[in-house]
Amino acid sequence: MPVPEHIHPVFDRLLGRADKEALLGQHGLCLWMTGLSGSGKSTLAIGLERALHERGRHAVVLDGDNVRSGINNNLGFSEADRIENIRRIAEVAKLFVRNGTVAICCFVSPTIAIREQARTIIGARDFVEVFIDTPLEECERRDVKGLYAKARTGEVKDFTGISAPFEAPPSPAIRIATQGRSEAECTNDLLNFILPRIQQH
Ligand code: ADX
Repeated sequence: MPVPEHIHPVFDRLLGRADKEALLGQHGLCLWMTGLSGSGKSTLAIGLERALHERGRHAVVLDGDNVRSGINNNLGFSEADRIENIRRIAEVAKLFVRNGTVAICCFVSPTIAIREQARTIIGARDFVEVFIDTPLEECERRDVKGLYAKARTGEVKDFTGISAPFEAPPSPAIRIATQGRSEAECTNDLLNFILPRIQQH
């Protein structure tokens, strides 16, 4: 990205990523969870953050509903707003990763293009795509937030899976099928996948 006029970044004078990673004793990484609303992204992210914390690993959860009530509270669910939502999140996640933290991002991020945008911003080497694969029927049956019912009546517009598209990732780094499996099992799968990748050798 070109630097805007009259802006003088100090990136080159800051401590480097290796300094931060050495301090924390781990590698920074972004775990990018994609999946339908109600698929279990936030639940698994919360469980994973705790499991990492207990093992002395530093992680942060960036979650759609949280971020949309703060830094992104001016964005809705049009395609353009979702792109901007993910762009900002990816920039934030990149800051965490480059400072040695495990950034667990849970966003519907419904299209291949939107997730490629995140991958490009964060950098492919630091980006691990996780598909929280719960069928639409199951998410709708759970309807934790009551949004599917509202989407069906049209009260909520452009709802992913009902009136807006969701493109499943064709080749995620890991796929977690949640249906018929416990939260602990799913969290454990994620933990076992991530631990060797953030380990310092
Ligand atoms: S994204 O598409 O831009 O990646 P994001 O993950 O930030 O979405 O937000 C999704 C959350 O917003 C859902 O879990 C749900 O609680 C809420 N939500 C409200 N309206 C919509 C909608 N039209 N489509 C999808 N999610 C919605």
